[in-house]
Amino acid sequence: MTGIVIVGTQWGDEGKGKATDQLGERVDYVVRYSGGNNAGHTVVVGQEKYALHLLPSGILNRNCVPVIGNGVVVDLSVLFEEIDGLALRGVNVDHLRISANAHIITPYHRVIDRVTERFLGRRKIGTTGRGVGPAYADKVNRVGIRIQDLFDESILRQKVAASLEQKNALLVKVYNRPAIDAESVADELLSYAERVAPMMTDTSALLNDALDQGRVVLFEGAQAHHLDVDFGTYPYVTSSSPIAAGACTGAGVGPTRIDRVIGIAKAYTTRVGEGPFPGELLDDTGERLRQAGREFGTTTGRPRRCGWFDALVVRQAARVNAMTDIFVTKLDVLTGWEKIPVIVGYDVNGVRHDDMPMTQTELHHSTPVYEYADGWTEDISSARSFTDLPANAQRYIRRLEELIGVRVSGIGVGPGREQTVMIHDLL
Ligand code: GDP
Ligand code: IMO
Ligand code: MG
Repeated sequence: MTGIVIVGTQWGDEGKGKATDQLGERVDYVVRYSGGNNAGHTVVVGQEKYALHLLPSGILNRNCVPVIGNGVVVDLSVLFEEIDGLALRGVNVDHLRISANAHIITPYHRVIDRVTERFLGRRKIGTTGRGVGPAYADKVNRVGIRIQDLFDESILRQKVAASLEQKNALLVKVYNRPAIDAESVADELLSYAERVAPMMTDTSALLNDALDQGRVVLFEGAQAHHLDVDFGTYPYVTSSSPIAAGACTGAGVGPTRIDRVIGIAKAYTTRVGEGPFPGELLDDTGERLRQAGREFGTTTGRPRRCGWFDALVVRQAARVNAMTDIFVTKLDVLTGWEKIPVIVGYDVNGVRHDDMPMTQTELHHSTPVYEYADGWTEDISSARSFTDLPANAQRYIRRLEELIGVRVSGIGVGPGREQTVMIHDLL
């Protein structure tokens, strides 16, 4: 039995896609368990670059069965666009399995996501505008539409009409927008039923059987610990549970099925969207990091906010997720800095904190306390073993390991599949 979870330790875009793809060759099933097409996971294989939003990154390994778990919210138009786009590039996705219980992002969820953000104005969350939050809100509110509903037309039409009744009143009376026609939404959803039918599966049963047979199942987290609805910088979070525990509810496997939790940590920090980010660099250094790391969103193209590595952020993620391994990505981006600052504490109104503060108010008043590591100038993009790295790069990794309190098992030195230094075997 081998259940492995990959989780982002910061605010997303740590390189989860690359890490998933890299392990994919030795994995039997790759499962998305939370989020939707708010995710953007980049995989680079040779000269080819793939940006995946809904499909698990293991899809590029033919022997690996891709699964969309019950915890994911699925925009069917995006799903089939992605599948068709990959087919044109010779990647076959016929073996995709989708949970019958996964919820659907409908056109009205997308509309509501955008109008609420506009309505919030200065207080907006900076969502990806993909309808993810409103779809999860409907799920919890018990008015969501699920994949299985596509196969009972009468129920589907009733559910769409019921869900829209309240929303239309809100759209028309509060937001001054046209009402959305329930019948045409239901027609659009029904038009996907034939293509979805062969994919719809009891994915929880499938994955539990696979684990019973000793297969390797990789749960690919989207978003990250600090965007988690419970543990993130609420309310500036996503509306699901990207943490490792979310793999259990989002895929239908029990906690004892998880053998390994791999945290993905960028060698510095980025965040996209609004919300607190104590280490954010608003100066030229931030801009230099953004350019060096090409920090522009895979999903929305927005420039990512940048800062140095924040040990408090990653250590909290390591604790809550019981991480067994850390994979440090984008170490190559730090080449050429004479000194590399690392955040080792916060000053909160004159009081030193060694761990992330408990409350939102304290986090808002946190200013970083730095220590400084010595940099290196050698190009590290072709390093393949730890000893290939310059001494100061090795020291930097060892220091991060000490600060996080979890072993570093892999290091990314470039976007390519092979541009990785493995220190400990993960499978
Ligand atoms: P994800 O959302 O966590 O999968 O990450 P994204 O794909 O949104 O963003 C990570 C970006 O960094 C992508 O453009 C990757 O191709 C790239 N990347 C991943 N690992 C490395 C690395 O080790 N070095 C460099 N230079 N780029 C990397
Ligand atoms: P991956 O999987 C980075 C952020 C949005 C916004 C907040 C809420 O590529 O790491 P939402 O659309 O989910 O309601 O937006 O969460 N966000 C991400 N930021 N990477 C992601 O995914 C993200 N998914 C959501 O920018 O701040
Ligand atoms: Mg991303």
